[in-house]
Amino acid sequence: MTQELRAVEWTGNALSLIDQTVLPHATEIRRIDGVDALVDAVQRLVVRGAPAIGAAGAYGVALAMIEGEREGRSRDEVLAAVARVRAARPTAVNLMVCVDRVMTRFDEGLDAVLAEAAAVQREDIGANRAMGAYGADWLVERTGVDRPLRILTHCNTGALATAGWGTALGVIRELHARGLLEAVYVDETRPLLQGSRLTAWELAQEGITHYVQADGAAAGTILSGRVDAAIVGADRIAANGDVANKVGTVGVALACADAGIPFLVAAPTTTVDLSTASGADIHIELRGEDEVLEWAGVRTAPPGSRGHNPAFDVTPARLVTGLVTERGVLEVSAGEVPADEVSA
Ligand code: MRU
Repeated sequence: MTQELRAVEWTGNALSLIDQTVLPHATEIRRIDGVDALVDAVQRLVVRGAPAIGAAGAYGVALAMIEGEREGRSRDEVLAAVARVRAARPTAVNLMVCVDRVMTRFDEGLDAVLAEAAAVQREDIGANRAMGAYGADWLVERTGVDRPLRILTHCNTGALATAGWGTALGVIRELHARGLLEAVYVDETRPLLQGSRLTAWELAQEGITHYVQADGAAAGTILSGRVDAAIVGADRIAANGDVANKVGTVGVALACADAGIPFLVAAPTTTVDLSTASGADIHIELRGEDEVLEWAGVRTAPPGSRGHNPAFDVTPARLVTGLVTERGVLEVSAGEVPADEVSA
């Protein structure tokens, strides 16, 4: 069952990652025992999803220390290695937040760093469980539907994307556990297929009825009344409530607004970045052109075509009906996330 799934696991002196680039066709574990390998794994999406890369980054500090000791590196060299982990991907703020949190214990030594990284992981699982309950309560009340719900989701926000259980997918799993879920419409999530490969895999393991659809089908599914709500995760939420999430999310939000159905964002408070004023200030990762010009390694676009491949987009706060964190549901369309609801 997926609640046992651990995308990121510390094994004593190395990180063990489920390789998300080969799922669902193969379940392969990668052993990561150095910073170069970790940065590569984060950048190739072997490990992905904002909270999961946060947890991997937290353990990355320990890896940098162990490697530094092994290779006889100076303190400055170890700090430079930590900085490379922190910068491996730019959009999900969880990576920076988790590395910075663990670094507060750096001078106490490896055991303290490992204890802090384990706390990051443990707290994320707890946050996901809380979000699941708050989000399910809110959806039932807000949709006002007296039959099991039909939900649309985008990308993968499950156990694979977190330390365990899931954010948006955690809410979906909670609805299912309560007998309140009819089916999930899963956007395939081009170009790397986190929806059709990873979300569908997790839902299949839970025995949850789901339909994989092309991203281009999402707006029609919403406008034709097939779903009662959409729920997605987030990589960074700005102080004004704008949400950066997997590319394609803003189209889902626009269609929900037009259809008058809830668009719910589920994310732990570690994803809220009050130092970023608005979505316009969020660094959106631009990935390699080949991801959109090729299909399974075979070129599909004609020679001479260029690719535009932003990994994320920004959904304006006005389109977000609710933001569920581990502390409850906020309605942020007024344009400001209340700092006391999301600060440590
Ligand atoms: O590029 P990815 O696969 O790391 O993008 C992941 C997403 O956009 C998720 O929706 C987000 O990180 C939330 S995961 C709980």
